[in-house]
Amino acid sequence: KRVAILISGRGSNMRSLCEAMKAADFPAEPILVLSNRPGAGGLEYAAAEGIAHAVVDHKEYATREAFDAALHEVLSAARPDIICLAGFMRILTPGFVDKWAGKMINIHPSLLPKYPGLHTHQRALDAGDAEAGCTVHYVVPEMDAGEIIGQASVPVLPGDTAETLEKRVLIEEHTLYPACLRKLC
Ligand code: GRF
Repeated sequence: KRVAILISGRGSNMRSLCEAMKAADFPAEPILVLSNRPGAGGLEYAAAEGIAHAVVDHKEYATREAFDAALHEVLSAARPDIICLAGFMRILTPGFVDKWAGKMINIHPSLLPKYPGLHTHQRALDAGDAEAGCTVHYVVPEMDAGEIIGQASVPVLPGDTAETLEKRVLIEEHTLYPACLRKLC
């Protein structure tokens, strides 16, 4: 399977996906890393690994529709079977999402359906939750709401801050996302 990965920043999940796909028995390969931010750290990894990479800078487009049209053009040319959102911080238009329905997945740092959106770790702490975690799910027009493919949880420990909890969850993300991608393939 051909996998495109969309990022906005450091790209640690993108990296874990690409590293996993290096395994001889992994039935997928990264064919494109695409960022909406020119400075995304993850682009350097893609370059160093010889993985095709591109930037579609959202700031160059007046509307979400125009940005998504440009994104769609670059993605279509790469012919991905699966699109993985990995820290991709743009809300996608329903029109775009529909075009890739059933082929686009995302990783979110909470145990969905709890805490869609931002600041998930702080919200878990504020709620006094005993555990936190991450979810891989299909992307649907409504944010962080698609069918769940897999989840991993970690305990919330005494003295946790949003930062310490984020680190603990991120470790699980790096195993969960490749495992879910493998399952889909
Ligand atoms: C991760 O926590 C992911 O769950 C969320 O954004 C963060 C991206 O981190 N969607 P990275 O760019 O993969 O390091």
